[in-house]
Amino acid sequence: WPAQAALIHEINQLKRERDAVILAHNYMTPEIFHGVGDYVGDSLGLAKEAARSDARVIVQAGVHFMAETSKILSPEKTVLIPDLRAGCSLAASITGADVRLIKQRYPGLPVVTYVNTTADVKAETDICCTSANAVQVVEWAAKEWGVDRVILIPDEYLARNVAAQTTVGIVAWKGRCEVHERFTAQDIEEMRAAYPGAEILAHPECPEDVLAASDFAGSTAAMIDHVTARKPKQVVMITECSMASNVAGDLPGVQFIGPCNLCPYMKRITLENIRDCLVNMQFEVTVPDEIAEPARLAVQRMVDLPP
Ligand code: 13P
Ligand code: SF4
Repeated sequence: WPAQAALIHEINQLKRERDAVILAHNYMTPEIFHGVGDYVGDSLGLAKEAARSDARVIVQAGVHFMAETSKILSPEKTVLIPDLRAGCSLAASITGADVRLIKQRYPGLPVVTYVNTTADVKAETDICCTSANAVQVVEWAAKEWGVDRVILIPDEYLARNVAAQTTVGIVAWKGRCEVHERFTAQDIEEMRAAYPGAEILAHPECPEDVLAASDFAGSTAAMIDHVTARKPKQVVMITECSMASNVAGDLPGVQFIGPCNLCPYMKRITLENIRDCLVNMQFEVTVPDEIAEPARLAVQRMVDLPP
């Protein structure tokens, strides 16, 4: 702990010297989330914060597609990621060329793309969405284009979960989050049997039978808000392990139990490499203009939708 406290102190000093802010996703470890994050939140919240911030430097304590999103929204800022290997299995499941082929196959349908994608995929997109607003975005796109079907890529499970909540038809892709696809309905049954009073929350990247067996489905921020508002005695969060650790400190009366999975990409980010990132101003994330411009339109459309 003294070593961690010293690192936190050093990072917070470096931030001031570099005119930097740290945008930390909810899956960061607690020492990053609570110790050095200037803004913490889900993908949607961090994207909005990137657009709002007037700092010169953004350090993305999250994965690479999040840093690209920040750069797309703030081209004049220096965007850094502490480890270039912080990728994402969903983002890796599809390329811009794949999206062009899908568009040829379904001409006239709007393309709604989850933010967990690379910039070249966003550049082929009409509007982005996150797990917090996917249903709203799909319905907006169908109305705006005057169609009854939209393309929603790349997460197969998010697409199925959205399809269950809307009359708009969905054309999906086969991408998956390697963290959330591993949860099963049996995990939920076992939790119900062992802790009958526990409230079970699951992320929409989980298979649909997991969500059907859960009490609440929502983005990482929506899960935090739900638990904070309701303060149940026992909670199971079907998502990445750091979520429960990050919330537990603020809710001493709530017991967090049950299974969780680690995201190996999020866990690439550490206090040490955040410090090195600010000392050496590494690793800069850039997006070529010809990709950034159409991608910005897609992300900005999402950010501009009413809450
Ligand atoms: P949200 O924070 O938007 O719910 O996304 C979860 C996730 O998997 C990010 O990588
Ligand atoms: Fe990607 Fe899943 Fe990790 Fe999020 S949790 S970064 S979607 S692999």
